[in-house]
Amino acid sequence: MIASYLKKTWWKYIIGVLFLIAVDLLQLIPPRLTGRLVDIVKSNDANENTLLIFILGILAAAGGMMLSRFWWRYFIIGTAHRFSHYARLTLFGKLLTLTQDFYDRMLTGDLMARFTNDINAVRMMLGPAVVMATDAVVLTVITVFAMGKFVSWRLTLLASIPLPFLVLVSLTFGKMIHNRFKKVQEGFSEVTHGAEESISGVRVIKTFAVEDRMEKRYSDVSRRYFEAQMSLIKVWGLFFPLINMIGASASLIALVLGGRMVIYGQISLGEFITFNQYLGMLVWPMMAVGWVLNIIQRSRASYKRIMEILKVKPSVKEPEKPVDVVIKGNVEVKDLNFAYPNTDQLVLKDVNTMIKAGQFVGIAGRTGSGKSTFVKLLLKLYPVERGRIFFEGVDINDISSEHLRKYITYVPQESFLFSTSVEKNIAFPVGEIEENEIKFYAQVAAVHDDIVELPHGYKTVVGERGVTLSGGQKQRVTLARGLVKRSPIIILDDSLSAVDAQTEEAIISHLRESVLGSTLIVVSHRLRVLSRADIIYVFDDGRIVEAGHHNDLVERDGLYKRMYELQTLEESFERDGGTNG
Ligand SMILES: Nc1ncnc2c1ncn2[C@@H]1O[C@H](COP(=O)(O)OP(=O)(O)O)[C@@H](O)[C@H]1O
Ligand SMILES: [Mg+2]
Repeated sequence: MIASYLKKTWWKYIIGVLFLIAVDLLQLIPPRLTGRLVDIVKSNDANENTLLIFILGILAAAGGMMLSRFWWRYFIIGTAHRFSHYARLTLFGKLLTLTQDFYDRMLTGDLMARFTNDINAVRMMLGPAVVMATDAVVLTVITVFAMGKFVSWRLTLLASIPLPFLVLVSLTFGKMIHNRFKKVQEGFSEVTHGAEESISGVRVIKTFAVEDRMEKRYSDVSRRYFEAQMSLIKVWGLFFPLINMIGASASLIALVLGGRMVIYGQISLGEFITFNQYLGMLVWPMMAVGWVLNIIQRSRASYKRIMEILKVKPSVKEPEKPVDVVIKGNVEVKDLNFAYPNTDQLVLKDVNTMIKAGQFVGIAGRTGSGKSTFVKLLLKLYPVERGRIFFEGVDINDISSEHLRKYITYVPQESFLFSTSVEKNIAFPVGEIEENEIKFYAQVAAVHDDIVELPHGYKTVVGERGVTLSGGQKQRVTLARGLVKRSPIIILDDSLSAVDAQTEEAIISHLRESVLGSTLIVVSHRLRVLSRADIIYVFDDGRIVEAGHHNDLVERDGLYKRMYELQTLEESFERDGGTNG
């Protein structure tokens, strides 16, 4: 990813580096001029004009540096920030292509860390590290050259003796910092994940009254993060004083030896001043070497983490030559066996169905019998081998996911609403629609009356940053959102489980009329809801064990009948308040 980015932007780095070198060269001028001025003043050759010339010279150098500094920052740091933007978009685009099984195993906090910390670390390498590396090389070479050429090679050599220690110190510290930084990053991931989980699960925590335990657990996580930060701070805290000390010892050598050279007339006072200023300028590039190595280490780890995501292959392959079939609602499933990716337990076994456009298909079965898996496969959320699932006779593997999902509405049991108005949530699949239409679908989903009761009606903001809807309300808004798509296949996966039985029955039978012509596949654990289905498939342990009309199935002595009797019994208990004794 970096390579493809640099292919487009390398010239910006060239320009930036040229400006950087310009700054480094210009930086040599003021110390040299100051030294010369001192010597001229000392020899009493100076008048106000010479003074003015020197001052103008220094000012000109300063002005040139100012401009050049602006431009290298613009070109190098700016380009690095543009990389972050590019990397975020690349990563985000990739996330949109990844399939369900990726999200089944990935932590949100971990993904977030890659979006923030890791991209940032790589940016450091493409920005500040480029600047430091250039500076380190250029400044060292030209400063050392200037010191030797303008003052004394011998003094340069001797005063430089402590300087390699600067590299050594920042190198070893760089390593330590890198390791501790890694711990800090892990801690960050833990802390965000821990908080996120507790906040989403706050109701569970409260109902079990385990606040103390959760607090303790979170406090451990947070403490680990804090301690990781502290151990990083300690290294930083030692690092700078050490650097200062080494710099000071170089100055000391220069002062003692250089001072003697001035006394014995080997160099002038002005040259001595120039030398000391140059020496001060060398501390930074020496340190920069260590810094750069540190940044490179960090960002290499980060880059690897980013590339890990970019290299994930979606487990569902998109067809090379997709067939643009117009889907009307005919679905055929032949001898379908299925195990989730990276598992070997068959969750669906020999499943066969023949669904005709416009049919109302019911799916029943106990929890864990494979109902959700079955409908998710119709959506191509997981890979299916060829010759198993067909839409209008076309193999699902020959239809692109995007194309397929244009024709299918899927309403899962777990409803998720965005933090925006009810209206916008319902209009989400199409972006923009008429108010009447929104209202119409809300009525079909039997949630209109609930919505008008909300503080701002359809404009009420819901979700994390707004009003909390009840589970049943959320499910019904989610259903309305699905219906807005008006697709030829509508799949409701137990999507009204939090709504009471009568309302669910009413919604489904009303829904049937308003989406006439569409294939309606309804998974429900309330069998009465399915009583008007054209056909009901009964799943048990991944197999379809019975199929037929409600009336036939209750006649047959099978699983469906047993489930139905149990439900009727429960309902009569509920009706009589459980006290029919
Ligand atoms: N993402 C997944 N990875 C692995 N196994 C799964 C996954 N989702 C569901 N399963 C397993 O597949 C089986 C069927 O689950 P599911 O289709 O959700 O049943 P149902 O919807 O009928 O309750 C269960 O044993 C469940 O544990
Ligand atoms: Mg399910």
